[in-house]
Amino acid sequence: LPVLVESRRRLREVREGLRAEGRVVAFVPTMGALHEGHRVLIRHARERADAVIVSIFLNPRQFRPGEDFDRYPRTLDTDLEICRAEGVDVVFAPDRDEMYPHEPWVTVEPGPMADVLEGERRPGHFNGVLLVVLKLFNSVLPDIAMFGEKDAQQLAVIRRMVTDLDVPVAIEAVPTVRDGDGLALSSRNAHLSPAERDSALSLVRALRAGQAESERGPRAVLEAGRRVLEDAAALDPPVKTDYLELVEPHTFESVTAEATGPAVLAVAATVGITRLIDNVHVVLG
Ligand code: PAJ
Repeated sequence: LPVLVESRRRLREVREGLRAEGRVVAFVPTMGALHEGHRVLIRHARERADAVIVSIFLNPRQFRPGEDFDRYPRTLDTDLEICRAEGVDVVFAPDRDEMYPHEPWVTVEPGPMADVLEGERRPGHFNGVLLVVLKLFNSVLPDIAMFGEKDAQQLAVIRRMVTDLDVPVAIEAVPTVRDGDGLALSSRNAHLSPAERDSALSLVRALRAGQAESERGPRAVLEAGRRVLEDAAALDPPVKTDYLELVEPHTFESVTAEATGPAVLAVAATVGITRLIDNVHVVLG
């Protein structure tokens, strides 16, 4: 059974115990509503380490007013059940006061990567993500931490924080886990009606259409993706595209029309009231 820990003080004791046993600790931070994507992160963590710590904390600071904090799925009992089934050693599930006993004055500035794509659409989002991830790292003291490529920009911003601030944690990326039909798994998929889910498949279709043109360069990739999204706008229910962009994988700067080599094709769109993101790697020819 995983040890359920709700306070940072108790976590520190448990962590000390693991250290005394000489165990390598891998950490999987989550906001709960665990699905197969999270489970794959946990399995990777178990392969890399002798002990796995999962955190479950719905971080209010990474949601903006009017976003879906209030209707984000909360399923702690099933989450604990999943952690047990996956052989997680420790679940850290602090409440809001435990994480933020007072308003922090000192915070983490994500820099220019937060000015584009998700950062541009969700001002302050990555400040909230980096703050909580650094605080969690400082409580959990992991050797390794696992993050999903599903949130490619989050992964890039966290890698940059770890590099720029000399955070002694090895970051490992896990490829996006998808349903059989290609839809990227997300806690937010729980909000989709069957018809919305059908429409939502346009995101991965657009990405794959773009990917298929990678040999022909950035313009062809974006055009192919945009064609799919134009059709998706006419579906019932419609897919309202927020962005489709081709960016450099580490800096998230838009690639130039002449760029070659690895890039990330990223998409965001709203179906009904659910905002979805997805991305794929491409190698531009
Ligand atoms: P959450 O959305 O719960 O995701 C937790 C981790 O699971 C993230 O690293 C995310 O990229 C990964 N993940 C989610 N869906 C995935 C999928 N389909 N395939 C692979 N990995 C997937 O991301 C967050 O929480 C928060 O921002 C957090 C980092 C915990 C900070 O609050």
